[in-house]
Amino acid sequence: MSRWRTPALTATAAVLAATLTPAAQAGPRATGPVNPGFETGDLTGWTVVSGDAFADSAVSTAKDYWGGPFHHRGDHHLWGYAAAQDDAVGELRSSTFTAGRALSFLVAGGWDPDRLYVALVRDRDGRELARQTGMDDEAYARVVWDTSAWAGEQVHLRVVDDKKGGWGHLNLDDVRTERPRKDDNGLTFNRLGQANQPADRDYAADPLRPQFHYTPYQGWINDPNGLVHYGGRHHLFSQHHPDAPKWGPMHWAHAESTDAVRWRELPVALTPPPRATPTDNSGIFSGSAVDDDGTLTVAYTRFTDTAAHPGATPETVEIATSTDGMTFTPVAQNPVVAGPPPGSAAGFRDPKVFRDPLDGRWKMVVGSGHDGRGKVQSYASDDLREWEYTGVLAEGDGTDGAMWECPDLFPLDGRWVLLYATNEGGESLQRYAVGSYDGRTFTPERRGVLDGGGDTYAAQSYEDDRGRRLMTAWMSDWNAKEPTRLNGWAGAQTVHRELFVRADGGLGARPVAEVAGLAAGPPVTVTDKRVRGTWRLGRGDTARLRAELDLGATTARTVTLRLHASAAEATELRYDTATGELALDTGRSGYGTRDVFTTRTRPDADGVLRLDVLIDRSSVEVFAGDGETLTARVYPRYAESDAVEFAADGGSLRLRRAELTPLGSAWS
Ligand code: FRU
Repeated sequence: MSRWRTPALTATAAVLAATLTPAAQAGPRATGPVNPGFETGDLTGWTVVSGDAFADSAVSTAKDYWGGPFHHRGDHHLWGYAAAQDDAVGELRSSTFTAGRALSFLVAGGWDPDRLYVALVRDRDGRELARQTGMDDEAYARVVWDTSAWAGEQVHLRVVDDKKGGWGHLNLDDVRTERPRKDDNGLTFNRLGQANQPADRDYAADPLRPQFHYTPYQGWINDPNGLVHYGGRHHLFSQHHPDAPKWGPMHWAHAESTDAVRWRELPVALTPPPRATPTDNSGIFSGSAVDDDGTLTVAYTRFTDTAAHPGATPETVEIATSTDGMTFTPVAQNPVVAGPPPGSAAGFRDPKVFRDPLDGRWKMVVGSGHDGRGKVQSYASDDLREWEYTGVLAEGDGTDGAMWECPDLFPLDGRWVLLYATNEGGESLQRYAVGSYDGRTFTPERRGVLDGGGDTYAAQSYEDDRGRRLMTAWMSDWNAKEPTRLNGWAGAQTVHRELFVRADGGLGARPVAEVAGLAAGPPVTVTDKRVRGTWRLGRGDTARLRAELDLGATTARTVTLRLHASAAEATELRYDTATGELALDTGRSGYGTRDVFTTRTRPDADGVLRLDVLIDRSSVEVFAGDGETLTARVYPRYAESDAVEFAADGGSLRLRRAELTPLGSAWS
């Protein structure tokens, strides 16, 4: 008798085995835990092993938490916060069941693989076979485990909450052992979870991993830093925390490229000091880089966490240099700016250095704010070591943020542009102003938001060897959901974009031309096509879609591009032909933020609206008309969600041309 059969089952199982199809015979019969989705409304079938984090009162019917819907299954779910909030600890155990070839469940709650997790445990020896933590989000996402190595063995789930304080709870729902890879709608769940992450950098194996965007192999990134063309290469540094897929002591990750599109990872360039206390977040904050006559010179904020270092100055400016483009040495004069000038109460960080064409000197702009108004402080230097304070470069009027982060000042198409990032009432915005600059002060003439989507922050630019003004930004922000934490990483940088001043005076962007070189196969192309209702152009989750909408010959009121589409979900890009509003709707995109992001765009003089859309597994970047952009991270639930469709409402669409090109990996 095999170990996995319970005695009562044995006789019938033997009879059944003789009559079942070969597929059904292939594996032993999986069972599941009792009460796999907590639909009894209590912990029936589950045992509280210790503590008070888990109790009947943790089985909840709440549909929404403070930030939106839970997206649980059925009426009930195990909301780890409900019984005794964050400070309680405890352990819960499921009933014993027979493992099948796969198992899946919905998980949410805090990220901490050591102290907050669901584990699959083998009864025989108590060995933990798989483990999954949460992602600092209340809303559920599905994790799928391949359990074929243990199929037929007796196992149980252990739910551990050993964490107190913020995000000190874990949520669980809908454990599936019957058809665990499929949803009830027949679609295949994307396989997420730390157990599925390949040990090598096989990025293709992660369904949410962008293939041609910079992402950290593991851990977290935020702002792009130190953008420069140096030694024949584009350099991209990133705010980085290698030890967790969340913000922490900041390092500078480093990558280089010969074409601004394909990246090669280099060793971490700058590292924080050893932690003085377990929560010491001191580190190397954002900054910039210049080529100082063959020496790669970076200017950054040294952040000192005053909770761990009482009395220290939290933000100073330091300089480090490199001659091999890889290893950096801090200069002896550090800190080159020992603290903020007066009127900088909100902060003093993110130095951006540039050679000022007006007087040939080095200039440095630093983000700041005071009394509810964001501002930019400015400095000048002849040697990048000794800096003279030259006053306030620009200041807000109180309507555009209390602290301006990551300022960047540069000439473009005969004008000057200031970039600055702000957090305003729970919203992170990448702002810009186009105006004039006299060597000391910037006067804005036109202000705008750089990207109408939800995921563009801390943009930085540089001039490359061809004289182009290139820019990339953190393709996320401080309010974003980060379901990729389930896979051990979070954060991505946008594709490099070329900036220009639009015909209407605003700041426009297009993908760098080299993106075309990522083509991994022939495009699907149609010309002169009339679309009525919904029509599928092709499939692709790593692709570029270029479309020319002939609005003169279009009668539809709304034209929709459906991306990452399947029967159950889609990210929709809608153009209102009457108002010119372009909306990116992530309301049915899957996991992640649900919102409708809008901008306004117009067709070219020939009546054709040109759209250039980069689709990369968990991102959508839309370039429309004269350089308007909409960028959003989206996290499809299903493997089938890769259709690219057009839809016309209230009439028909005349497509002059559409081209869907598969793109390949940007990693060597
Ligand atoms: C912007 C920012 C910067 C800071 C960095 C820290 O996103 O807040 O102001 O230098 O992130 O990681």
